[in-house]
Amino acid sequence: MIILRNARLGTLAGMYPLGTTPMQVITTVADFRRARAACDGLGFVPTMGYLHQGHLSLIRQARAECSTVAVSIFVNPTQFGPREDFERYPRDMDRDLALLEAEAVELVFAPSREEMYPEGFGTYVVQPAADEVLEGAARPGHFRGVATVVCKLLNIVQPTRAYFGQKDAQQTVVVRQMVRDLNIPTEIVVLPTVREHDGLAMSSRNTYLTPEERRAAPAIYRGLQAAEQRYLAGERNAEALRQAVIAVLDAEPLLRPEYVSVADPITLRELERVGERGALVSLAARLGSVRLIDNVMLGAQPS
Ligand code: PAJ
Repeated sequence: MIILRNARLGTLAGMYPLGTTPMQVITTVADFRRARAACDGLGFVPTMGYLHQGHLSLIRQARAECSTVAVSIFVNPTQFGPREDFERYPRDMDRDLALLEAEAVELVFAPSREEMYPEGFGTYVVQPAADEVLEGAARPGHFRGVATVVCKLLNIVQPTRAYFGQKDAQQTVVVRQMVRDLNIPTEIVVLPTVREHDGLAMSSRNTYLTPEERRAAPAIYRGLQAAEQRYLAGERNAEALRQAVIAVLDAEPLLRPEYVSVADPITLRELERVGERGALVSLAARLGSVRLIDNVMLGAQPS
């Protein structure tokens, strides 16, 4: 099904001011393929919706670089573990569509679960190495779900470029490797993490935080900055950098760190010393029932 929308004129097709293109909200693969065939220079931003400024930064970059912008909204069940927050993951399609319209997005792909995973679905994209470290180790099966849905979305949307956030650092590594290994003809663009004024990385999950937890949450980024400062002062011992993060996290009683990592930015293996390639300092921490992740990159950025 295709719905044509325009912010000022409601959802009536055929009534748009000259020079503006109505946003198409498409729910089936077949309809998306038809709409996509008419576009070139396509920039794509995959999301799970409940959009915030982090998502919008990716969309704006796509808008600046590509003649057509497509955004997907799909809360992907296969990347959530059985005890994770798939059911309660925040959703607000009307608000998301209004935000996308304001960014002059042309194509929105918002499939149902059945459209993406029809009965009999049975092929997955797996990267065993990704499951051994960081988010992969903490969330068994997570990256199988991410790689599978991103592979499907790239096949459906066929974008020239696809935009991802550094906020989910391991996800960018997994997606880049998949695109390389499976010869997917899309350029992967990774953009910096967008933060609240107090440093908390924007995330759809921040909405779960109680006011008290929200006040405690900036300690996450303060911990990462402590490692950054030690690194800039010349510290190269990875354990000393990990301890610099942990000291800040431990000072916030509501925060329960799950892991703190100083890893090679390409292999994501834990380091003993930070060398020429720099390091990815990343962590996961719980605040009440909410699990948040964040990271900073030290030294050279991976290409
Ligand atoms: P979602 O969490 O909705 O994020 C969509 C994209 O926005 C991802 O590339 C993510 O890294 C980026 N993003 C999230 N918060 C950000 C922030 N504060 N600053 C910059 N970018 C940010 O990531 C997913 O969805 C899913 O795993 C998906 C790739 C859509 C596959 O289901």
